Amino acid sequence: MRNTIRFVHKGQIRELEAIDPTQTVLNFLRYEDALTGTKEGCAEGDCGACTVVLGDRMEDGTIRYQAVNACIQFLPMLDGRELITVEDLQSSDGTLHPVQQAMIGSNATQCGFCTPGFVMSLFAEKHGRNSANRQDINNVLAGNLCRCTGYGTIIDAAEKSAEDGLQDSFHKTEKARAALLETLGADPMLSLDCQDKQYYAPTTVEEFSHLLKDHPDAVILAGATDIGLWVTKQHRRLETIIYLGRIKSLKSLDVTNDKVTIGAGVTYSDAWQTLGGLYPDLGELIRRIASTQIRNSGTIGGNIANGSPIGDTPPALIALDATLTLTGAKGSRNIPLEDFFIDYGKQDLKPGEFVEKVSFPSPSQDRTFRTYKLSKRFDQDISAVCGAFNLTLDGNTVKDIRICYGGMAGTPLRAGKAETALTGKDWTLDTVQNAMQAMEEDYSPLTDMRASREYRLSAAQNLLLKFFIETTEPEAETRLVGDLPSGRETAHA
Ligand SMILES: Cc1cc2nc3c(=O)[nH]c(=O)nc-3n(C[C@H](O)[C@H](O)[C@H](O)COP(=O)(O)OP(=O)(O)OC[C@H]3O[C@@H](n4cnc5c(N)ncnc54)[C@H](O)[C@@H]3O)c2cc1C
Ligand code: FES
Ligand code: FES
Repeated sequence: MRNTIRFVHKGQIRELEAIDPTQTVLNFLRYEDALTGTKEGCAEGDCGACTVVLGDRMEDGTIRYQAVNACIQFLPMLDGRELITVEDLQSSDGTLHPVQQAMIGSNATQCGFCTPGFVMSLFAEKHGRNSANRQDINNVLAGNLCRCTGYGTIIDAAEKSAEDGLQDSFHKTEKARAALLETLGADPMLSLDCQDKQYYAPTTVEEFSHLLKDHPDAVILAGATDIGLWVTKQHRRLETIIYLGRIKSLKSLDVTNDKVTIGAGVTYSDAWQTLGGLYPDLGELIRRIASTQIRNSGTIGGNIANGSPIGDTPPALIALDATLTLTGAKGSRNIPLEDFFIDYGKQDLKPGEFVEKVSFPSPSQDRTFRTYKLSKRFDQDISAVCGAFNLTLDGNTVKDIRICYGGMAGTPLRAGKAETALTGKDWTLDTVQNAMQAMEEDYSPLTDMRASREYRLSAAQNLLLKFFIETTEPEAETRLVGDLPSGRETAHA
């Protein structure tokens, strides 16, 4: 067991002991390291002013760089990774990084408060796809807010920065830094105890289960995109945390002819391309979840486990007939995902259990799947209503249909009456309109800041109609222009 955290920073291994496990990376940088280039805007993952980049050594020996929000990442989550902040980009001889030069060359900075965050997002992009495509740039920058709305010049800078190949000092020293990261990867379980707070980061499911058995009240930590806010906004004191991000088996995404299985530690970014290749709408849904920074940390497991009625992936996964595997020290059990959500704030998770994985059928020719998210803002916004549809036709007769919505009840909930109104009937406008009517018995949604009760019901009904139109009139323009995962050619998103 180890009671210090170790990460790579400025090309060297940094080791810290006696740290507060819920101190954020942002506060550590600003208050302990006096690295004030990384800013605090919202402290809740929304504005991107705090963006830093984390590097992970991949199996092929390269380093993958990802932008994250330092304001909602806890310090021990750096363990085993490389940290890069805006101060690290300039070369030792004072030369600015190509991304910084592009920002200056395009006059892309005004007050400068948001600028470090934009620079770090673009730095990560340059080390990733390095795309000059406008839609890719929009995706990359959706989690960075500029209150002076100087986006035009920032996008120019992003395009300019992508013109050149990758020739920075990080590229040149990648091998040496990957070797340092490799030495950290072999470390045993992390166990921190400071200020009466415990933090464990086991490396196997077995260790995880036993820790959870011994500490049934512990907070299970995945990407911290919810839990980070418990600390920064609700000022909750978390006494015992068990982090699952170091368990390799929970990070696997397996696809066979029959089944897709997603481990609880798989982030949205890790899942996006694969799921989008299988179910394009699932890829598009993931792209609409939060921002690049949040998707780089947040997990699908966390999106299920938090039990939110407006989480985006549960309606889609329920429509896909997903099975949830819950594991504890005594073993595992499988349940239909829809049974996990008992009531608002109440999930079928026994003390000592955790979400290990979720699986659902691979696509097949006879089924059509769609999911649609409605939110006030297109990017970086929580759903008002999210609908998912999974249809199997026999000729033109509905053999099976699964319809599930988020935002319509205290849990993600299937539209049982609407499904019954359709099953065994012809897939026609008449039967769909009957099902839309029947949906009024399925749901009694709430009015809140995101939408009124009337809007929600009418939107849910109309999403079914939209699904009908998409299945019967494939040429109809039902969507806004947007970016779709590769493999789907239409320009309508
Ligand atoms: C700015 C911002 C924008 C967001 N936008 C969206 C959005 O568009 N759509 C959306 O759906 N969500 C959104 N979210 C919410 C959040 O990002 C997601 O719900 C995310 O999937 C949570 O995953 P996580 O790994 O970060 O979970 P964490 O924050 O680590 O944990 C969340 C909860 O799940 C529990 N938990 C996590 N993993 C497990 C497990 N394996 N077993 C048992 N319990 C577990 C934790 O104990 C905690 O209660 C947003 C959040 C922020 C901050
Ligand atoms: S300070 Fe706004 S996202 Fe972190
Ligand atoms: S330049 Fe200051 S908020 Fe954008």
